Parts: sequence; structure tokens; C-alpha cells
Amino acid sequence: MRHIMVLNAKGGCGKSTLATNIASYFATQGAAVALADYDPQRSSLDWLARRPENRATITGVAGFEDGLRHAPRNADFLVIDAPARSHGAELTDLIKHAETIVVPVLPSTIDMQATSTFLEELRSVGKVAKKQAKIAAVANRVRDNTLIFDDLDEYLSKAKVPYIAALRDAQNYVRAYTRGLGIFELPEYLAWPDWDEWEPLTAWLRSKRSQP
Ligand SMILES: Nc1ncnc2c1ncn2[C@@H]1O[C@H](COP(=O)(O)OP(=O)(O)OP(=O)(O)O)[C@@H](O)[C@H]1O
Ligand SMILES: [Mg+2]
Repeated sequence: MRHIMVLNAKGGCGKSTLATNIASYFATQGAAVALADYDPQRSSLDWLARRPENRATITGVAGFEDGLRHAPRNADFLVIDAPARSHGAELTDLIKHAETIVVPVLPSTIDMQATSTFLEELRSVGKVAKKQAKIAAVANRVRDNTLIFDDLDEYLSKAKVPYIAALRDAQNYVRAYTRGLGIFELPEYLAWPDWDEWEPLTAWLRSKRSQP
């Protein structure tokens, strides 16, 4: 089973948005997918509750309540939505569950600053330092031709973790969440620009590069 965690101590950067879309991506590919929500805010579980019955099944796991005890053993992918403000022992504990970690970052000075501090801490956690977990950064909610996106692009290009994809700021994400879907389940004429932007991220997730 693959364990993919979406993690950043910074709040509101798109962890739940990425986690639900990664889960929907693999489910629509025919994989058995579980989505574990480690945040008592329950954004991923609330999304699952909105999911239409005729869509590819994703099993919800209330990780914030009882960890992965009730996670289905036969899942191909377990996607984990992590809570904001994970630090210290809690962070070390969380990371035990994943060998692939996706870190979303917003184009904002506050977010880049907070992410720098977070990545420094993350890279010092034993499991990551020993390369038993692979990390990648994803720019989220970007707007082309903005100075702050240029700053984020430059910041992530120089960061000590691979910079895998840049996802635009789009109502499609809001629309998809409301309907319990991922952007891969929206009509092509609406979502093709987002599908294109996700390609490097899904390619990385499918490749050995995202696995220790
Ligand atoms: N690419 C995007 N385009 C447009 N809106 C987005 C995008 N990504 C996230 N959002 C919106 O930004 C807000 C925060 O996203 P989300 O809840 O996924 O972040 P989070 O990191 O899980 O937050 P928290 O730290 O509170 O758990 C939500 O309203 C979400 O719909
Ligand atoms: Mg969240």
C-alpha cells in the first residue's frame, strides 16, 4: 500500500484540496483508495460525505480520532490529510504513516516564510533525514504574471526539496469540493487546464521518485 500525506504546518495552503484531489485521481484510475483525515476540522471527511454514490468509491478514515486502526488493509493508496500546526513530537508521529509527502505552498510572503521554517523542521525529522520518506513541494493557487508567483517560483526552485507542480487559483477546486468530486471528475471543457497542471504531480506520485 502506498501512503501519501499532504502536509504543511501553515494553515489554509491547500492540504485538504490536494488530498481530496489525489484520492479522487487514483480512485478514477481504478485503484482502491482510502482517505484518512487527521484534522478534526474534517474537511476531507466532509468532502467524502458529499461524494455521489455513483462515483468511484473512496473509503474515509477518521485518523484524528483513532489513527489508522480502521483503515482498509487492502487499499492500494492511503491518502492522508494532515492538520495545520503540526510540529515536534506530533509531526514525527504523523510522518510515521507516510513515505511520500506533498507540501502545498501559496504565493504569499507569509506562506513562503512559514514553509521555510516548516521544511527545515521536516528535513530534520529522522525518517526524512534518512530518506525513508520523499518530499515534494507544489505551488498552489498561483496566478500567472504576478510578481509574487515569480517570487514563489524562484523560492521553490531553490528550496532543498523538489518543486513538482504549480496549480492555478481556480473556481474548479471550489466547485469540485462542493460536489464531493475531484477536478479529474469535472467535464474536460472546464477542467483541462487543471488536468494539464496536475500531470507532473500525478507522474511523480506514480513514479519511483516519490518512493524511498
Ligand atoms: N487551487 C485552488 N484554487 C482555488 N481555491 C483553492 C485552491 N486551493 C485551495 N483553495 C481554497 O483555499 C481554501 C483553503 O484550502 P484548504 O482547506 O484545502 O487548505 P488546508 O491547508 O487544508 O487548510 P487547513 O490548514 O485549515 O486544513 C479553501 O477555501 C479552498 O477551497
Ligand atoms: Mg485542511
